[in-house]
Amino acid sequence: GVHFGLYFSQYEWFNRLYLNDKQANFSSQTYVNDVSYPQMIELVNNYQPDVLWSDGDWEAADTYWNSERFLAWLFTNSSVAKSIVVNDRWGKGVSGQHGSFYSFADHFDPGHIVPHKWENCMTLDKYNWMTSRTMTSADVHTVNELITQLARTISCNGNLLLNIGPTHDGRIIPIFEERLSEVGAWLAINGEAVYKTKPWIHQNDSNVWYTSKLRSTHNKNPYRVYNPQKEQNTIVYAFVLDWPKNGKLILPSIQVTSRTSARMLGYKGNLSVLSSQNGAIIDISQIAFTKLPSLTAWVIKLEYLATEVFDPVSDLIEKGWLTTDGSPLRYSTEREYQRLGSAN
Ligand SMILES: *[C@@H]1O[C@H](CO)[C@@H](O)[C@H](O)[C@H]1NC(C)=O
Ligand SMILES: *[C@@H]1O[C@H](CO)[C@@H](O)[C@H](O)[C@H]1NC(C)=O
Ligand SMILES: *[C@@H]1O[C@H](CO)[C@@H](O)[C@H](O)[C@H]1NC(C)=O
Ligand SMILES: *[C@@H]1O[C@H](CO)[C@@H](O)[C@H](O)[C@H]1NC(C)=O
Repeated sequence: GVHFGLYFSQYEWFNRLYLNDKQANFSSQTYVNDVSYPQMIELVNNYQPDVLWSDGDWEAADTYWNSERFLAWLFTNSSVAKSIVVNDRWGKGVSGQHGSFYSFADHFDPGHIVPHKWENCMTLDKYNWMTSRTMTSADVHTVNELITQLARTISCNGNLLLNIGPTHDGRIIPIFEERLSEVGAWLAINGEAVYKTKPWIHQNDSNVWYTSKLRSTHNKNPYRVYNPQKEQNTIVYAFVLDWPKNGKLILPSIQVTSRTSARMLGYKGNLSVLSSQNGAIIDISQIAFTKLPSLTAWVIKLEYLATEVFDPVSDLIEKGWLTTDGSPLRYSTEREYQRLGSAN
């Protein structure tokens, strides 16, 4: 069930034809006509990708790349017109405006829900997209950091793109392999909280992030951005990324009922849930260290929480963090996205 996607760099930064066009302030399009455009057509016709990930922000406008013409063909006349999914880097300054999903700048991590499908594209090595000879082990994200990014992303309607830069001769170095195996082992236990889930009405309580599932999706729009909270129907998953003080999790967004149950994925027993004026308190101190399903990041599955009506999208529009059509207003420039990325 893995879908096939292709990355395409519009730029060959040091191609002489490109440099000539650039010197002419992009009034000529020799590089596009002779190199990049025919290559894109060839990729689609020969390999029928499900995803085409264009890397074409920064120097030249979408009009230079002929992006509009290409996308019109891709979505109407190409052999993948009905299935293709693309990102948003189709020219300088157009990211976050067009595309099946938005990738904005690298490491995009808004911390709030964004209704248009988006993506956090990040790398195992915090500073490089390739294997760097000067990389040290401290430069590689820890498993906890990777799961934290995963949780922050999917609870806000994003997809995680995790890059592994191969070596010049095509190898995946052991420290990258180790991280992938660790994340895979974690997903084998906690995948239920990741796959086929959607955001919930609340995205997080401090550093605890939520996803959700419905028992019955009867009459539900499959493209809904988040699941509603209904006592009978909604299952909530809380990603606990730091072990709480005294083993007691305090979750203001969780409203319990007499039927509420809480379990840690990968652990058999039930957990006690108390209601307090600060929200639900879940006691995980009773779980012996040797019984913990993983060494880092745990998921609590919550069922039969109180029915609650809340629309996180309208809430953010009201606060001015989203425009009325749901675009993220708060980070409206490339620089803002970059700043946000480097802060993480
Ligand atoms: C390109 O633009 C720059 C800056 O606006 C200008 O100095 C230069 O003369 C232009 N070059 C051409 C070939 O038009
Ligand atoms: C699609 O193909 C038709 C028939 O060949 C052609 O008339 C039309 O211009 C094409 N549209 C695009 C967007 O390429
Ligand atoms: C959720 O996380 C964001 C970003 O990290 C933070 O600004 C916000 O205060 C958190 N919300 C709650 C309710 O804890
Ligand atoms: C956990 O709670 C459920 C529902 O209340 C109950 O059926 C089950 O036996 C409990 N499991 C354990 C291990 O106590």
